[in-house]
Amino acid sequence: MRFIFSLLPFLALATSVVHAQNAYIYTPTDMTEVSAGSSFNVTIAQGDSNSSWKNIAIVIALLNCHEYSSTCLGPAEELGTILYSGPFNPQFTTEPGTAELPPHENFTLTVPSDFETGQSQLGVALFDLVGALLFPYLQTFNTTIVVT
Ligand SMILES: *[C@@H]1O[C@H](CO)[C@@H](O)[C@H](O)[C@H]1NC(C)=O
Ligand SMILES: *[C@@H]1O[C@H](CO)[C@@H](O)[C@H](O)[C@H]1NC(C)=O
Ligand SMILES: *[C@@H]1O[C@H](CO)[C@@H](O)[C@H](O)[C@H]1NC(C)=O
Ligand SMILES: *[C@@H]1O[C@H](CO)[C@@H](O)[C@H](O)[C@H]1NC(C)=O
Repeated sequence: MRFIFSLLPFLALATSVVHAQNAYIYTPTDMTEVSAGSSFNVTIAQGDSNSSWKNIAIVIALLNCHEYSSTCLGPAEELGTILYSGPFNPQFTTEPGTAELPPHENFTLTVPSDFETGQSQLGVALFDLVGALLFPYLQTFNTTIVVT
């Protein structure tokens, strides 16, 4: 019995650490305007943690929400036009005066010149392998930008 009780806190800790740190869109902020054909910067951040996970691939995509009366279905349902697909390696910045930034990666992306104007979902899907057993984990998140 004593053995089981002493094991419980350990088990609770073990399950709580086995998750990938959630990533999120640091910029652009909601409703940022970007003109079709121009480039814009996207910063994807992911908190620092002692949990173990490996970022395998990230997809950043843009979807015009016009056909859903300005509300897209969300990035878990539909991603649209792929602007970036590849590795994701968040780093602390070394630039002076920006030390408060969480680990992140900057991407310079281009809105296709023929992209339909209006509210658009900037959707992200990130695939991780988590913990010592490397279980596959997919997270999606989004913000809305306005293509002008
Ligand atoms: C995007 O970031 C690059 C590198 O920091 C910078 O030179 C460029 O001006 C930025 N572009 C926009 C549209 O802010
Ligand atoms: C990770 O663990 C080290 C050593 O225990 C600790 O100093 C550090 O603050 C931890 N980092 C995070 C983000 O929890
Ligand atoms: C990402 O961009 C921001 C804003 O321009 C900048 O402060 C930061 O240093 C950049 N991060 C990296 C890792 O280059
Ligand atoms: C992300 O997409 C969902 C589904 O369309 C939407 O409800 C939510 O407002 C979006 N989030 C942001 C920050 O735009």
